[in-house]
Amino acid sequence: MKFKKRTHTCGDLRENNIGENVVLNGWVANRRDLGGVIFIELRDRYGITQVVFEPSYNSDAHEHAKKLRSEYVISVEGKVRKRPEGTENLELATGMIDMMVDKLIILNQAETPPFPIDDNVDASEDIRLKYRYLDLRRNEVQKNLLLRHRMYQITRKYFDSNGFVEIETPVLMKSTPEGARDFLVPSRLHKGKFYALPQSPQTYKQILMVSGFDRYFQIVKCFRDEDLRADRQPEFTQIDVEMSFVDVEDIFEMVEGLMKIFFKEILDYDLSANIPRLSFEEAMEKYGSDKPDLRFGLKLVTLNDVFEKSEFRVFKDSISQDGIITGLLAKRCGDYTRNQLDVLTDFVKKLGAGGLIWMRVKENDLDAPIAKFLSDEEKQNLIKKLKAEPGDLLFILTGQKLKTLSLMGSLRLEMAKRMNLIPQDAEPSLLWVTDFPLFEWDEESKRYYAMHHPFTSPRIEDIPLMETDPVKVKARAYDLVLNGNEIAGGSIRIHDSKLQSLMFKALGIGEEEAKEKFGFLMNAFKYGAPPHGGIAFGFDRLAMLFAGKSSIRDVIAFPKTSSGLSLMDESPSHVDEAQLTELHIKIK
Ligand code: AMO
Repeated sequence: MKFKKRTHTCGDLRENNIGENVVLNGWVANRRDLGGVIFIELRDRYGITQVVFEPSYNSDAHEHAKKLRSEYVISVEGKVRKRPEGTENLELATGMIDMMVDKLIILNQAETPPFPIDDNVDASEDIRLKYRYLDLRRNEVQKNLLLRHRMYQITRKYFDSNGFVEIETPVLMKSTPEGARDFLVPSRLHKGKFYALPQSPQTYKQILMVSGFDRYFQIVKCFRDEDLRADRQPEFTQIDVEMSFVDVEDIFEMVEGLMKIFFKEILDYDLSANIPRLSFEEAMEKYGSDKPDLRFGLKLVTLNDVFEKSEFRVFKDSISQDGIITGLLAKRCGDYTRNQLDVLTDFVKKLGAGGLIWMRVKENDLDAPIAKFLSDEEKQNLIKKLKAEPGDLLFILTGQKLKTLSLMGSLRLEMAKRMNLIPQDAEPSLLWVTDFPLFEWDEESKRYYAMHHPFTSPRIEDIPLMETDPVKVKARAYDLVLNGNEIAGGSIRIHDSKLQSLMFKALGIGEEEAKEKFGFLMNAFKYGAPPHGGIAFGFDRLAMLFAGKSSIRDVIAFPKTSSGLSLMDESPSHVDEAQLTELHIKIK
């Protein structure tokens, strides 16, 4: 179909265009028929312009416009005029003018959309994802994708100007477990063999360091078959970074530089000099989380010393079993009802707690079901230690250290919400969490796992402990946290094949298994591996936070649902029997 190409976008026209003859192309966002005059709001991704069909101005165009419906694609030609006095729309960039249409061409018709293309859409997310192409027409969603685009450009410019090389790594690779489950791709040519989709390009970027590339980055898709949450997708994007001849400080400096530019260019916010740091241990003890939100206080307080000699069985057991007694003070919440306290008890129980101890603080006393088990001295010491005042409420949890702290960390976040402790305009809180344990003990399989991944270097001084007391070994690993979200994680790597073997041994990975799974990396290390380290950002999480959203689905063009479905194209889907046969696969 012949149509006139636009002379302007729907966001361009201003008062200085009045009198000009212009052509606009776009979608019908809204159509009103007022006393015989038809007003159309014409939309494209640049904005909205009102176009007017008046019978006395051009009766053919007006007649034709009667056919227009929402989301029709049209081309209109006409004259820009100043809007009649009193009809200006100051909320629109083009709101001082409109266009008197001489010629209308309908480029395409549209069925009535299942939901209006509107910022305040109340359609369910499932419907929006099924019709994602319509959802993506909405200004709100387009804004998020444009932000993402800007973030790609900022990232590339930053790393390029710092001498980094962008290198693509394979999407079909060897299955090298990194913590999550792999997505597997069956090989047609090699019966019974599989590729895996990368959980991250970790091994490749380390090999690039062996090859001498020195500074690498990549904006890269990663794939993990794990349970999904609002901040997790089965395929997500990382800004992946690796550097040679560096220590932790060099990585921090490079990352802080990027964060400063992001904050300045996206939010026009000047980040203060250095990002504060907390060790994993301190983060857990004070905030009950390895990604603490420091926009508010509400710190946990360890109470083991207060109850050191307690006769109360729960406390006694916890202390004798090397556990922790941790407390949280909720200021001025002493008037919480029994019902509210039951809800909070259920909240921690659902997360795995045995129960929740609570006490209302009274004048010189504590009002609680367990108060009778405590001596006066213990009560006074508890009040002192928590700096509690009459009218306050306090919570206590006891048990195995990390688990109990993390339960209290969840209660801390819940109470912060209930107490409204995070103001809308709170300053952003960036934080490095450092000194993670190298290993994590898994009670179920009775073995150690690498807390980060098996290529993470222990602190040099802790190497001897790897064989004698693995839990005590700290890693040269770090996470970057923004407002309680883990936005990046990395480490200095092992670059020595002997130390790498020791690591595999500690992880219970035998020599044969190590050779089979990681032989290529161990081999590479035999040929002159430089000391190296790096980090990877969760790009989607970063975009989500900069967009002020609480789900990464909002900043991904075609996201999956929380059960891993793509509602638009209906994947995953069945495939032909013939395809399966070719891949030597039988579905049981
Ligand atoms: P890590 O596993 O910590 O490290 O991942 C880096 C960052 O990626 C983000 N992220 C995710 N985002 C969305 N959906 C997911 N399923 C998901 N999983 C992780 C997080 C996280 O901080 N190779 C190492 C990096 C390194 O050591 O250099 C790695 O992948 O924001």
